[in-house]
Amino acid sequence: MKDLLRIKSLISADIELLLNQQVKKEALSSSIYLAMASWCNRNGYDFSSEYFFKQADEERHHQLKFYKYILDMGGNAVSPEVTGIKQEYNSFREVFEEALDQEISVTNAIKNIYARCMKEQDFVTMEFLNWFLKEQREEEYKARRALELFEVIGEEGTGRWQIDKHVGQIKYDSEA
Ligand SMILES: [Fe+2]
Ligand SMILES: [Fe+2]
Repeated sequence: MKDLLRIKSLISADIELLLNQQVKKEALSSSIYLAMASWCNRNGYDFSSEYFFKQADEERHHQLKFYKYILDMGGNAVSPEVTGIKQEYNSFREVFEEALDQEISVTNAIKNIYARCMKEQDFVTMEFLNWFLKEQREEEYKARRALELFEVIGEEGTGRWQIDKHVGQIKYDSEA
């Protein structure tokens, strides 16, 4: 009957660990964006607040995608503890600088998992990660675009008000 037993896991222990770390990273992103949504709302930047609420939702979705994949592959998905979320920011601009930093760090983490998969020839996980690589292209684009507004519009006078309005219009519509 041995042949009928399910193989415990289709991913290696190392990949499983990296994927669980990514679950935590996405949960962290979600919480960071939620804090940013609150800060922007409290400081009168309504469009940016909306933008970060939406980002927080997306990160939660990413977290669940990784979480369910680990389970689908017979692994142990671990519900992450997320602590130490920064609630206050020194400036409107700082919020967007840290948002971009967070996205770059997520891209690097995903590339790191991808590299490990290549080494192990884990093609199935590589294929799963392709969606995230593409998603990061969009995420980094939007974060960079938001930060560029501070240069293009400038913060003087009604600048921040204008920047906030434009943040609400950021779109990524590159093909494929
Ligand atoms: Fe994400
Ligand atoms: Fe993101």
